[in-house]
Amino acid sequence: MAKVEASAPGKCILFGEHAVVFGQPAVAVAIEQRITVSLELLEEGADEWRIDGMKLIPSKHPHVEALRSRLWQKKAGAPALSIHINGDVPPASGLGSSAALSVAASACLRAARGRWLSEGGEATETKDWAEGFSSQLTDTDVYSKVDEGKDPARRVGANGQGSSHVWGEQAIDVDECALLGHAVEAIAQGGRASPMDSSVCAHGGIVLLSDEVEKGTDWVYTRTLNIPEGDRTWQVHTIPVMTDEQDVYLVIGNSGVHAPTSIQVAKVAAAMSENPQRMREIETIGLIARRGVEALLKGDYEAVGRAMSENHLMLRGLGVSCLELDDLVRAAAPSSLGAKLTGAGGGGCMVALTRNPKQTSEAIELAGGRTLISKIGNAGVRIESHEGLPFWKPSSK
Ligand code: MEV
Repeated sequence: MAKVEASAPGKCILFGEHAVVFGQPAVAVAIEQRITVSLELLEEGADEWRIDGMKLIPSKHPHVEALRSRLWQKKAGAPALSIHINGDVPPASGLGSSAALSVAASACLRAARGRWLSEGGEATETKDWAEGFSSQLTDTDVYSKVDEGKDPARRVGANGQGSSHVWGEQAIDVDECALLGHAVEAIAQGGRASPMDSSVCAHGGIVLLSDEVEKGTDWVYTRTLNIPEGDRTWQVHTIPVMTDEQDVYLVIGNSGVHAPTSIQVAKVAAAMSENPQRMREIETIGLIARRGVEALLKGDYEAVGRAMSENHLMLRGLGVSCLELDDLVRAAAPSSLGAKLTGAGGGGCMVALTRNPKQTSEAIELAGGRTLISKIGNAGVRIESHEGLPFWKPSSK
């Protein structure tokens, strides 16, 4: 049987959600809970994709559809697939389930179609790729020139035509998974999406986004996106996960209330355009996030917790919290170092940083939340298993 399976972690934002869309710093961590995507080749002659056993309806699965149009074009000869999605990251709750899905699915698709390299190329060196794919909504590509040919999803690298073909883990590039995840998130969020979720789901660990390159962290890459309010540029960094972080835990409390990210993000954008003075609140969240980063780098978790609680107050002021989330944050406070909503808010989840995960979890559950416990910083996207690769080998020209 031809099959490939990849997984990516969910994420939890410690500081800076919403403000990051306006260029302020934000920090997210990869959580233990993951989304697993598996792809199987359908029987020969099958024409329609299937998702969890049902016919794939593109409008219901915009993330899968956007990846399919970039990596698996029917008109280039790509065969129909069956896709299964599993995992313990609850959907639509601010834990990055859609980014984890997009990142894991792009790893699966890339492993299954493989990648053409140019003469003498190494799979790990992007300069030697003979193909790469668009990172943004518009037709841009950080790795290679756009092929002027007929296939809009195919790119030809600076070094010429493909001469060798690799697949499986060898074909995967984590940056590319993050790029594709961001492009797909932006489509699903009405054009406004920071690369926060996609970067942390791809790279794992702890990720810091900022409008400038930050000292004391590892800079990874720059991302740009033209959002309805103008061009945005984010510098993406990773922060080392310190070993003494083992004695602090995140307890995530799910309010059970569903609130789509796109609506929450649009609400903040509308508030800013109605009253531009409110941009000060966004800047204050940025200052709190900076303080949080300094505390994280020092391993001062008491200060990290304080910054999280202050961040929650600012998010409440912005109007993106709700009664249920405020109740859970209040319930967690006595046994934790700090607590706040996490993600887009309006529902979804809150997170508490704690040295007493059992006690904090019980307090949140008593207040009506369903909890998950995670250590800080977990592995990023990875291929779990594969057989019968590649499923399809696109033309090298
Ligand atoms: C969603 O997880 C985080 C937001 O800041 C949106 C984004 O960064 O794209 C609300």
